[in-house]
Amino acid sequence: MPEPMPLVARDAIADIITRWAPHGRAGLLPCLQEVQEITGWLNPEVCKQVSDGLRVPLADIYGVISFYSLLYDRPVGQVIIRVCDDVPCYLNGSQDVLAALEARLDIRAGETTPDGKVTLEVHPCLGRCERAPFVMVNEEEHGPVTPDNVSALIPDT
Ligand code: FES
Repeated sequence: MPEPMPLVARDAIADIITRWAPHGRAGLLPCLQEVQEITGWLNPEVCKQVSDGLRVPLADIYGVISFYSLLYDRPVGQVIIRVCDDVPCYLNGSQDVLAALEARLDIRAGETTPDGKVTLEVHPCLGRCERAPFVMVNEEEHGPVTPDNVSALIPDT
C-alpha cells in the first residue's frame, strides 16, 4: 500500500489546482508540471484531484501525461538522467554514453536503481544539439559527454 501523502503536500497541491482551475483545459499542462514537482510522479489520486479541479476528463489527463515525456505516471528516482538519442546526439556517440551509464548504474534505460535513487532514460532532443551528445541530470545540463566521463554525471546519493 502506498504511503499517505503528507498534509503539507496535500495543501500545496490543492493550492496549485485552485490557481489553475479558472484556466480549465488550457491550464492542464502547467498544473500537472507543478503538481509533479511536489509528488515526483502523477499518481492516480492526484490525477483525480486535477481532473475534478480543472473539470478536465481523466482520459485527457492521462493523454497529456503519456504525450509529454517529462511527465510520469509511475514512480521515478530522485535523480533522473536523460540521455538524448536524437540524430545529432546519436551521430556523436550517445549510444556509447548510454551503454556506459547502464554499466555504471547496473540498470537498463527505462529502469530505476533498486534503491529508487536514479532513473535512466533515453530522451528525444533536449534542445542542446550543439553540445551533442547531451545529457541532463535533473535540471543540470551536460555536454558533450563521453563514455569516459559518465561517472561525473552520477550524483553521490
Ligand atoms: S539531438 Fe540531442 S540535444 Fe538535440
